[in-house]
Amino acid sequence: MTDETTPVLSARGLIKRYGRVTALDSADFDLYPGEVLAVIGDNGAGKSSLIKALSGAVVPDAGEIRMNGRPISFRNPMEAREAGIETVYQTLAVAPSLGIADNLFLGRELRKPGILGSVFRMLDKAEMRRRATQQLSDLGLLTIQNITQAVETLSGGQRQGVAVARSAAFGSKVVVLDEPTAALGVKESRRVLNLIKDVRDRGLPVVLISHNMPHVFEVADRIHVHRLGRRAAVIRPDTHSMSDAVAIMTGAVDGDAAA
Ligand SMILES: Nc1ncnc2c1ncn2[C@@H]1O[C@H](COP(=O)(O)OP(=O)(O)OP(=O)(O)O)[C@@H](O)[C@H]1O
Ligand SMILES: [Mg+2]
Repeated sequence: MTDETTPVLSARGLIKRYGRVTALDSADFDLYPGEVLAVIGDNGAGKSSLIKALSGAVVPDAGEIRMNGRPISFRNPMEAREAGIETVYQTLAVAPSLGIADNLFLGRELRKPGILGSVFRMLDKAEMRRRATQQLSDLGLLTIQNITQAVETLSGGQRQGVAVARSAAFGSKVVVLDEPTAALGVKESRRVLNLIKDVRDRGLPVVLISHNMPHVFEVADRIHVHRLGRRAAVIRPDTHSMSDAVAIMTGAVDGDAAA
């Protein structure tokens, strides 16, 4: 059933209201295999709400979500993670008082081999630390002295690095990053951009929400422009300019006409 033209993740007519605010106003979405899809839009356009609906963090009031063509509904982020969607939210979901290794393995802790793990449920802390150190150094994302250092003592950018590393390490179907470079310096941003390309080269599609146009135009294969709670257009970096993108984002140009 699945072929190249079936989106890995898609949505039709998503609606999410918060009281009088309509965050999603019949939003559509399509993510294809092996692509980096950027999602751009003004503050409050509904980008994070869209991502939360796709990753189980909010349940939409209406609309349909499909994964590989099959309708799905996630009641919480855990269900989306189990389905292979790994998300870094704009407001970071890390556990500040836990260490870096503990954060990387949060919710999927490794147990000791044999009955110590299977019966006594003992955690294999040494193995988790070893893998966490490996993962972070492979990614070149962090130069951390101590993998047990509590995440609350890291800088904002380093925390972001831990969250991005976690998503890249564990996403098996889709990686979603909501503003991953917003808190990062130039060097760290560069690493995250390279990481996004690496993840794509591993065959995993990436959804990148960003306000940074040069970043978007550098890494995205396609750009979903979100405006007033819905998808206004999908454009490509090779056929559209940054000013085209901004014009659609702000409504100066009609999305359908521009795309
Ligand atoms: N939990 C909530 N309760 C009430 N209103 C909300 C909630 N979450 C989002 N909204 C509203 O929904 C609209 C869309 O918000 P959303 O966070 O999805 O925008 P965004 O495109 O991600 O913006 P930004 O670029 O600033 O991150 C906004 O008007 C926002 O105030
Ligand atoms: Mg947002």
